[in-house]
Amino acid sequence: MSNFFTDDTSSIPEVDSSPEVEEASPATPTPVAPSSRTFDSAGVNVVVIDPDEFARKRILAQMGDDVSSFAGPEELIPFLNGEPIVLILGPSCAADDSLSNIEQLLHKHREIGAILVVEELTTNLLQQALRSGVKDVLAAPVDGGQLTEAIARVTPGLATPAAATPDDLPVFESDGDVAHVVTVFSTKGGAGKSVIATNLGVALAQRSEKPVCLVDADLQFGDIAVMLKLAPQHTIVDAVSSLDRLDPSLIQSLLITHESSGLKILPAPLEPAFADQIGAAEMVQIIEVLKSFCSYVIVDTPAYFNDVVLGMIEISDDVLLVAGMDIPNIKNVKIGLQTLRLLNTPMEKLRLVLNRANSKVKLDVTEVERTLQMSADILVPSDIVVPQSVNRGVPVVQSSKRSGVAKAIEEMADIFCPEGASTRRSRR
Ligand SMILES: Nc1ncnc2c1ncn2[C@@H]1O[C@H](COP(=O)(O)OP(=O)(O)O)[C@@H](O)[C@H]1O
Ligand SMILES: [Mg+2]
Repeated sequence: MSNFFTDDTSSIPEVDSSPEVEEASPATPTPVAPSSRTFDSAGVNVVVIDPDEFARKRILAQMGDDVSSFAGPEELIPFLNGEPIVLILGPSCAADDSLSNIEQLLHKHREIGAILVVEELTTNLLQQALRSGVKDVLAAPVDGGQLTEAIARVTPGLATPAAATPDDLPVFESDGDVAHVVTVFSTKGGAGKSVIATNLGVALAQRSEKPVCLVDADLQFGDIAVMLKLAPQHTIVDAVSSLDRLDPSLIQSLLITHESSGLKILPAPLEPAFADQIGAAEMVQIIEVLKSFCSYVIVDTPAYFNDVVLGMIEISDDVLLVAGMDIPNIKNVKIGLQTLRLLNTPMEKLRLVLNRANSKVKLDVTEVERTLQMSADILVPSDIVVPQSVNRGVPVVQSSKRSGVAKAIEEMADIFCPEGASTRRSRR
């Protein structure tokens, strides 16, 4: 097995910050001049963790004196202050019990990222480490340059302390009324959920005085932010990591605003890996906070049932079931409907949206309704303006107001917020 970091122990420099290590390890090499390599931590705090002092010393030797080290993750906890930290885990941390401690820490603290250095990289170990939430695994020997690069890769995904809401942005308080929650769901990918969720969100935001929020609960592959041409600074991951103190003002600081409509968006995690760590209970808590100050909360979902989707359907007032007009779509929606019935979902909150519904597709709406034993609430035609609008990042209800698709979406918005009954929102 290769030696950790380098097989040539004579090149290991002395580390002033841990003189006791010299006494602790009989294998400590003869001190030599410090490494001339410069270590750049990209401005993030870096902490080395390994129960074995000798292993810690070897990592520190590659990084410079200003990097702290601890024997275990529990020793780090008193020093956590919400600022991003990258942990460099030494080879002893690859043991099962150490990894499960690390997993708990990473699950609780989204501001912490971890890189594991192992003596021998196996597929098993890599899988195990990634499942525990470790972001990168490096095989020894590694040097300061490799560590710098790994730290730079990990840092952008770390949660930062929630930015304070700027003074010029109004913070909406609860007025006692709670929002109407609408989940957009389909058991088929590409059915048009995200297109419908974004356009409905924008249409409602343009009608509503109070904020309207669109939550991207397609946690692995959510693309609401892309569809609205937004570059989010915060995502659901930040909301989950602040869950114990989440209130209307904190969550408002995490939402990104679609300026031209006023729609607020809580984007999906930027990396699919985070999805596993977010459960229904956390999502429900987030929606409850949003409900307290919004008029509508629209939830976009992935194309399958998971506990988050079931949680969202359960707390929704309405569920828009989107079906494309082709046989596989209808088959999957039929299966989805059966599942929802088995789960005792009240059928009265389901509304069927037939997307790409026009005569050219050679599938008769009445036939589809008969198959699904449900009548369609809204028919959205197929139109080239949809992919065009997706690619431009401008929703159809704004870019092609007179199209059949925009009219169908406005009709959908009428169900929840009749135009006459609302005050058009002033630009905020
Ligand atoms: N009514 C429509 N007419 C034409 N194209 C559509 C229509 N609805 C959706 N699309 C196209 O299908 C693609 C997939 O839609 P999307 O909303 O991302 O599906 P989902 O979220 O269900 O996976 C979109 O990029 C869009 O170009
Ligand atoms: Mg989608």
